[in-house]
Amino acid sequence: MKPARMILVAVALLVPAVALSGCVADEDLTDSTMPGKDHGGMTPTSPATSPMMPSTTPGMPHGSMGGATTRTPLDRSTTGLPVAAASQSVRIENGSSYTIRASPATRDFGDGPIRMFAYNGLLPGPTLMLDQGARVTIRLENDLPIPTTVHWHGLRLGAAFDGVPGVSQPVVEPGGSFEYMVEAPDEGIYWYHPHARDDIQQELGLYGAIVVKPANESNGPGPRETVVMLDDILLDEGDVAPMWTEEANHALTGRYGNTFLANLDPAWTASAAPGERLRLLIVIATIARPLNLSFPGAESVKLVGLDAGYLRAPREMTSLQLSPGERAIVDVVLPSSGNVTILHTTPLSTRNLGTILVDASTAPTYAGPAPAAPHARAAAELDAIALRATAPPVEWELDVRMMGGMGSMPMRPDCVEPVEWDADPMDPMNANATPSTVTWMIRDVDTGTENLNATRTFAKESLVPFRITNLADSAHPMQHPIHFHGQRFLVRAIDGEPAPDVAWKDVVLVPAGSTIDILVEMSNPGTWVAHCHIIEHAEAGMVTAFTVA
Ligand code: C2O
Ligand code: CU
Repeated sequence: MKPARMILVAVALLVPAVALSGCVADEDLTDSTMPGKDHGGMTPTSPATSPMMPSTTPGMPHGSMGGATTRTPLDRSTTGLPVAAASQSVRIENGSSYTIRASPATRDFGDGPIRMFAYNGLLPGPTLMLDQGARVTIRLENDLPIPTTVHWHGLRLGAAFDGVPGVSQPVVEPGGSFEYMVEAPDEGIYWYHPHARDDIQQELGLYGAIVVKPANESNGPGPRETVVMLDDILLDEGDVAPMWTEEANHALTGRYGNTFLANLDPAWTASAAPGERLRLLIVIATIARPLNLSFPGAESVKLVGLDAGYLRAPREMTSLQLSPGERAIVDVVLPSSGNVTILHTTPLSTRNLGTILVDASTAPTYAGPAPAAPHARAAAELDAIALRATAPPVEWELDVRMMGGMGSMPMRPDCVEPVEWDADPMDPMNANATPSTVTWMIRDVDTGTENLNATRTFAKESLVPFRITNLADSAHPMQHPIHFHGQRFLVRAIDGEPAPDVAWKDVVLVPAGSTIDILVEMSNPGTWVAHCHIIEHAEAGMVTAFTVA
């Protein structure tokens, strides 16, 4: 691929810094609202005080944040590309093979077709239906102009097929291919996405869902299921906001989008019969944004499962906070008439992510309101593990280091918001932040080592507690969704309080200033990574490795 053009940019803080979280007075907010777009209402939540940083950075020479950098824009042409279709499900039988081909395709979000990346021409990619215990071969063919890999998020498969360049496999170059042996030992909802510059590839829609079910489900017919992959995309002037070939941008808060999508559709709807129980298999595919979901209009809403497993029994819920990479299984019982909306609600704004239309002409496959049964398999597994004695925890701290002027950003500990619900994506300080100017860190407190220098080895079958503290007094405290590859864990406590829902997980949100205790089951041998699932944070260093031997 020939770069369309090369731009030489001297990075400098020439503009007033916009606060990236709350705790700032109104007059300090730069109004850069684009008409017609949700631009992240930066509503202050604390009384007027002095700004967090001076509105200019005196004496800072241009380029002190890493120097002049070559920035090659991505090829954004749509000429000759097929229009991507909506996702479809494919069942892949145990022992069989399937091919996913990654290639550019277009989708129109309202301002004309834009260039996206799709698997098999579908956005999202095909939903892969696997029987629990299945082993299948999935061949990746890379027809993208950039290298890629596939990570099978949450599946406890062989380390050689985990998709992490430099740890499990080399990248698959344009025109190349790779055969993954994919195993699905655990029932639940999973997803697959690239693990090479996924700040670009995931933003462009390159991901799909994986549904794993026991081969012979003996509990009779369950509710109808619908995969809902929730995302946001950052659009600007009729295309995605600039991304650069050399390195990720938006490396401070990560890339928060301004257009909300369900299954990559800004106006997603499903329909169901009056009174039907519909099971939503929810995947959070945002790059950075956490979501706080509720389902107004439903007769009943029950949380049934989390990332990699089921709760002992479904519980009634009103809202659920989920972060990038997390999944949830939610049963909604439809009303006799009207609609159910999927809402994302924060102190800053409310967004409609999708609508389930009640359609009286549809026959229910499984009517409510009888509660979904307790999950016997999950309960037995959780009981078996709960009481095993454990060693003192491995302690991690989450921190950030900023270069040049960015380092002079004092945070008042009393101002730290546990979750940054929104960030101004057009704020130049964030938009221009790159892995050259920002380093996010997972630090092993014992050894003082960080990220890929902080490696540990654990015995296979050991249960290892981790205590993860997200420093409130770092240069930019914000939440980090921490994901372990290859293993599953239980969240034991959040700031010392028992976690409300116990189920196997592989991502846990660590709010700013919080400490989370998890118990990792080291069941799957090999060398793996654990990282922040805000993709730009991972690009900016927030990845550590461990070995199960
Ligand atoms: Cu879904 Cu390494 O991540
Ligand atoms: Cu992070």
